[in-house]
Amino acid sequence: MSTHAPPARLAVVGNPVSHSRSPQIHARFAQSLGHAVDYTRVEAPLDAFVATVRAFAAAGARGCNVTVPFKGEAFAACARLTERARRAEAVNTIVFEAGGWLGDNTDGAGLVADLQRNAGVALAGRRVLLLGAGGAAAGALDPLLGARPGALVVANRTLARAQALVERFAARAAELGVALSAAPLASPGADFDVLVNATAASLQAEVPPLRAGTLAPGALALDMMYGPAAAPFLAWARAQGAVARDGLGMLVEQAAEAYHVWFGARPDTFAVLAALRREVDSAAAGAKA
Ligand code: ATR
Repeated sequence: MSTHAPPARLAVVGNPVSHSRSPQIHARFAQSLGHAVDYTRVEAPLDAFVATVRAFAAAGARGCNVTVPFKGEAFAACARLTERARRAEAVNTIVFEAGGWLGDNTDGAGLVADLQRNAGVALAGRRVLLLGAGGAAAGALDPLLGARPGALVVANRTLARAQALVERFAARAAELGVALSAAPLASPGADFDVLVNATAASLQAEVPPLRAGTLAPGALALDMMYGPAAAPFLAWARAQGAVARDGLGMLVEQAAEAYHVWFGARPDTFAVLAALRREVDSAAAGAKA
């Protein structure tokens, strides 16, 4: 389909945002679906997120993605919220509507899609360990519960934060029949089939101090980061005999979910993820050379 309508304007709003690969991802989605889309990066001053997004909306944009550190502010600024954004208490996708902004959160759905569709791990009935209790973990929790694992343990360096998060989702877990509990990072239990690292440890080139035996043989261990930041965690996971996976698939899947929110069409992610993987790998090789 070709169109002469002006392109739909979208952006990712964050600070910093220059590293974001969202424009390339959305450009590829738009190309594959024959849509005209102009997706850019907008860096909002730390004290002017709402004003920056308002100006972008007033210029006729359709919506935006929101990234670090504004997902909580976006949540507070939206007139309407999807159920999953309300549960996450964070917004990464906004649709500009006549009566105000509609806030959604596609991060957790992206994670679950990557685990189940791309990595081929059915979560139902499995033992899942989620590391971290900040915004990234909170965004993942409801979609992970929705996949009905047998057990879901939230482990965090600061146990009280994990406990608070588990408390927040306790009713939802009970409704879905999932055994949800909190644990300290150093002793979350053993034999997990799936491990998701949603801590910021990789940003400090650290690996959470997990014991041998935490993972079941052949488990899948995913870090939400990608590129060099994820490398120490992925090396640790492989040394445990796990299948190691970085956050690139999650990134592409959350973008596809956002694209669906804006356009009602679901792009195919397979080729986009493969192309992005090549770009990231060659950037890493270039950095080493
Ligand atoms: P985000 O929105 O990215 O989740 P956040 O809300 O600041 O960021 O949360 C960061 C998470 O990473 C927290 O769970 C934090 O643990 P604490 O609650 O104990 O602070 C975790 N974290 C950060 N650095 C870590 C490290 N070096 N080792 C283990 N966990 C770490």
